[in-house]
Amino acid sequence: KSSDTEPYRPKYHFTPKAHWMNDPNGMVYLNGKYHLFFQYNPDSTIWGPMHWAHATSKDMIHWEEQPIALYPDSLGTIFSGSAVIDKDNTAGFGKNAMVAIFTHHNKKIEDQKTGLHQYQSLAYSTDEGKTWTKYAGNPVLPNPGIWDFRDPKVMWHAATGKWIMTLATKDRITFYSSPDLKKWTKESEFGEKLGAHGGVWECPDLFPLELEGKTHWVLLVSINPGGPNGGSATQYFTGDFDGKTFKPDAEKQKWMDYGTDNYAGVTFSNTGARKVLMGWMNNWNYANVVPTGTWRGATTLPRDLTLKKVGEEIYLASTPVNEISKLEKVVFERNELTGINSFDLSAGLKEGKGTKIEMQVNGPGNFSIELGDGKNQKLIIGFEQDKGYFIDRSNAGNGEFEKNFAKKHFSPRISNAAYKKIVIFIDAASVELFADDGLTAMTEVFFPIQKNTLLEIKSPQKIDVPMVKVSTVARIN
Ligand code: FRU
Repeated sequence: KSSDTEPYRPKYHFTPKAHWMNDPNGMVYLNGKYHLFFQYNPDSTIWGPMHWAHATSKDMIHWEEQPIALYPDSLGTIFSGSAVIDKDNTAGFGKNAMVAIFTHHNKKIEDQKTGLHQYQSLAYSTDEGKTWTKYAGNPVLPNPGIWDFRDPKVMWHAATGKWIMTLATKDRITFYSSPDLKKWTKESEFGEKLGAHGGVWECPDLFPLELEGKTHWVLLVSINPGGPNGGSATQYFTGDFDGKTFKPDAEKQKWMDYGTDNYAGVTFSNTGARKVLMGWMNNWNYANVVPTGTWRGATTLPRDLTLKKVGEEIYLASTPVNEISKLEKVVFERNELTGINSFDLSAGLKEGKGTKIEMQVNGPGNFSIELGDGKNQKLIIGFEQDKGYFIDRSNAGNGEFEKNFAKKHFSPRISNAAYKKIVIFIDAASVELFADDGLTAMTEVFFPIQKNTLLEIKSPQKIDVPMVKVSTVARIN
């Protein structure tokens, strides 16, 4: 069993069998299959010359690795980007061709210090992603003189009958449009004076979501560094997009996930009204030194994105896709725990499987859920009345590899409901917290040294827990 030799290999998250991965790329659905491409270095467990590796799945949970899809070529290595299904053959590669739009990153030109080393290119597949051809006219969007010019996310904008490319251009987003994926026209820029600017903008996404019968546009922008808990994170804006310009509802960004380890997340293409995101479960602060072994990098759980109103404000909520429930088996359930301040859930911990904890807490009060080895090692997830939800990995195992890793991180509570509902997914080396129906999300990695065999709920005062449920999450590999 892989867990004996590879203690940090996830049980139900995607990881490559070997070597380095970062951003998910080109995620697209076609004919019953989800495709995940990802930034990959086939020669090392650290970042290097980038390829697009490939995996496929029927449910976004069980993935099968496929041969590498895109290799570096004379125009450069293959940085992040997206894929679309060209239903009407606008590009002329074939009806329903899968078209990848990616950044070519040219080291040679970088060496010449021109700064024009990133530009956008196409590749296409007419056999559902099995084999790929690079477009002979690459690049389709040359560099206009911007050092960071990358990560194209392309979507079909039905109202104007055009493709829209959302591109990260250093400290802002630039929108381009095209009738055929080959000729691109600049439409507008967004964000130079808005949002968070602690680092470079990367891996954007733009998509519509309905709320109360009205369409709102969501713009995701990953930023590194400058996240709310240090390093990499993803901010978002809600607003309006007319095919030309994005008009935000507010000047200030919101954060999709307050944890340290959900970066470069974007949504699948061609899933209709359903928008599902996967991120890279890592942070550039330490991605190259995490102690995982023969591979580095994993994806987050796939998450359904929806909009929710809190007062007059619109928020993006993230909830794990229902497809994961096939792996779950309830092993412990209690429906009435009134006035408790400590409770042992260890019966729900099963060797060799992941763990899901669902809990409701009524009324105010601090509480924590503590997963440990019964000695000094402890991962703590909880809530503090004045600071919000938290994940504390200060003593959760190996944190030596980076000086700021072993810390406690907070996320504000966004919901104002009287009761708190939380869902926690724990895997071999990660924890994902979804609070208040996904209004608050926190994703973090941690690296236990001893086996965690104790699971407890604790509170300094008496709290009411009308529901607590522990499930095992079966392994996928
Ligand atoms: C984000 C990122 C992208 C880039 C890719 C390179 O993590 O820096 O902006 O395309 O990684 O691997």
